[in-house]
Amino acid sequence: MFRLIIIQTAIISAVVINCVELMTLDPKLQHILSNQTNQAREYDSVPIESGADVIDAVVIKAVEIPEERVTYEGAQLWRVLADGEQSEFVSYLQDTGDVSMWTGNESIVDVLVRPESISRVTRFLRERQVKYDIIIPDLQQAIDQENPSASEEELEELEGRKARYAWWKRRKRQHKSHIHSNITSIPRYLVASEYGGGNDVYQKKIKKGELDTLMAGHRMEWTRYHRLDDIYGYIDYLAQTYPDICSSMAIGTSFEGRPIKLLRISKGEKNVPAIWIDGGIHAREWISTASVTYIINYLVENSDDLKADYYILPVVNPDGYEYTFRGDRLWRKNRSSPEKGGVCIGVDLNRNFGYRWGGLGTSRQPCREIYAGTGPFSEPETAAIKNFFEATSANFKAFLTFHSYGQYILYPWGYAQRVPPDYADLDRVAQKSAVAMKKATTQNTVYTVGNSATALYAAAGGSDDWAKAMLKIKYAYTIELRDKGRNGFILPAGYIIPTAKEALASVLTITDAARKL
Ligand SMILES: *[C@@H]1O[C@H](CO)[C@@H](O)[C@H](O)[C@H]1NC(C)=O
Ligand SMILES: *[C@@H]1O[C@H](CO)[C@@H](O)[C@H](O)[C@H]1NC(C)=O
Ligand SMILES: *[C@@H]1O[C@H](CO)[C@@H](O)[C@H](O)[C@H]1NC(C)=O
Ligand SMILES: [Zn+2]
Repeated sequence: MFRLIIIQTAIISAVVINCVELMTLDPKLQHILSNQTNQAREYDSVPIESGADVIDAVVIKAVEIPEERVTYEGAQLWRVLADGEQSEFVSYLQDTGDVSMWTGNESIVDVLVRPESISRVTRFLRERQVKYDIIIPDLQQAIDQENPSASEEELEELEGRKARYAWWKRRKRQHKSHIHSNITSIPRYLVASEYGGGNDVYQKKIKKGELDTLMAGHRMEWTRYHRLDDIYGYIDYLAQTYPDICSSMAIGTSFEGRPIKLLRISKGEKNVPAIWIDGGIHAREWISTASVTYIINYLVENSDDLKADYYILPVVNPDGYEYTFRGDRLWRKNRSSPEKGGVCIGVDLNRNFGYRWGGLGTSRQPCREIYAGTGPFSEPETAAIKNFFEATSANFKAFLTFHSYGQYILYPWGYAQRVPPDYADLDRVAQKSAVAMKKATTQNTVYTVGNSATALYAAAGGSDDWAKAMLKIKYAYTIELRDKGRNGFILPAGYIIPTAKEALASVLTITDAARKL
C-alpha cells in the first residue's frame, strides 16, 4: 500500500485519474505535476474511490495552468424565425452539430452557428424558406470586449480599500453615540500604519486579533465579472467581518474538488421566512452569478431592514464557471468526466434534479448540452443542494434561481405545459415582481411572466420544479435576466449593475410575498 498525491490539473484531470487507474504514473506527467506545485491553488481534498487496492487514497488538488482556449472567431449568433415544423429544422441542425441552441420560444430560436457551418446552414435554411437574422456577426469579438480586465495592482488596491471601508464603518457604528459620531470621511491611509502609529484615538479600542480582520478585504465590485476566487474571497470576508449576520459553509464539493459555498444572511429572528437564492448553475450565464453577489452586497449593507433569512449560493457550478474564464466562454454544463468509453464532458445540472427527471427537453446523450446525467442527482453539485435541503430545518417559502437570458419570470412547471394548483398566486407575485423590476432602473426593462414550459420550452429536471413539487416551497421561480438577445450570454460588464438592480427588485418583492404566508 502506498499513498499518492496527485495534482489534478485543469486540462489533464481526466488523464490523471485514468493514469491512476492504470497504475502507471507516466514520468512525463510526474514531471509536469511536480513543476506545477508552485502555482497550486488548493481546494478541499476529496478522496476518490479506486478499484485497485494498491492505491489507498488520492488527494486531488486543483491547479491552474495555461489551457488551450476555445475560440469563437467567425462564429455567429443567429435568430431563426421558427414555429412549428420550422423548429424541427433547427433540431436537425443541432443534431448534425452545425448549430447549438442558446434559447428559444414558440416563435424564435437563437443559435450559435459555427464558422465552418455558415454556408451549409445558410443553404439549408434558404431552401426551406426559413428566415433568420444575424445578431452577433463575430462571437469572439463580442467575448473579447465583454469583460474589461483589471491588473493585479488594481485588485490589491480594491482589496485594501474595502478592508479600510469596512473597518471604518464598524468603528463608526460602535462609536455612534460617542466622540466619533462626526467621522464622515473614509480614512485614505493604510489602516495598519494608523493602528501602529501610536497616536491613534482608536488604538486602545482595537481588540487583539482585529488587525487581521481589518487588513483582509475583498476584491468584489460590479463593473466586471469576477473569477471564483474573488467571489469566494468575498463570501469569506463577509462571514469574518459580519459574524453576527453572515455565515458561510461548503454544502458540498464539485467534481474537480472545489467547495460549493453557501452564504447565510440572517439576524436570527423568529418567524421570518427562509429564502433560497442561487446563480451560476449554467456556467456561461455570468450575469446570474454577478447579480446574486450584488444581492448579497445589498442585503448585508442593509441588514438593519432584513426581512427574511437568506440562503445564497452564487455559484452552483464552480468548475464550469471557472472553465468559462479559462477554456470555453460558452460552456454550460458541469465538468464531470465522460461516461465509460465516451468523450463528452459534463451534465446540464438544471436537468439533473429529481422531479420528472429525464422528461421533455432533456437528453440521454452525454454530448448534448441538455444531457440530464445518468440519474436524478447524479452530479455532486445537485446532490449538494438536495442534501442541504434534507438537512435544514429552515422554513423555506421561496426558491429563486437566476439564469440568463430572455427577461422572463418563470414559474412551474417546466416539465410540461401545465401549472400547479396555486399558480394564480405564483403568477400574481411574478407580475408584481415584473413591475418592480421595470421600475428598478430608468431603462424600464420588461420582464415577461409565464409558465416555464409555455413561455420558453419544456425542460424536465429543473431545480424550480423540484423545489415546488418535492420541497413544497410556495414561491419557486426561475428568473432569466437580461437581455433579450442583443448580446445573449455575452452581456457586457457595463450591464451588471442595472441588471442586478432588477434581480434585487424581484428578490425584495418575493420576500414581501413570502412574509405574508
Ligand atoms: C522542473 O522543470 C525544470 C526546468 O523546466 C527541470 O530542470 C526540472 O528537472 C523539473 N523538475 C522535475 C521534478 O522534473
Ligand atoms: C458533472 O457531472 C458528472 C456526471 O457525469 C459528475 O460525476 C460530476 O461530479 C459533475 N461535476 C461536478 C463539478 O459536479
Ligand atoms: C419570443 O422571444 C422573442 C425575443 O425575446 C420575443 O420578441 C417574442 O415575443 C417571443 N415570442 C413569444 C411567442 O413569446
Ligand atoms: Zn440557464
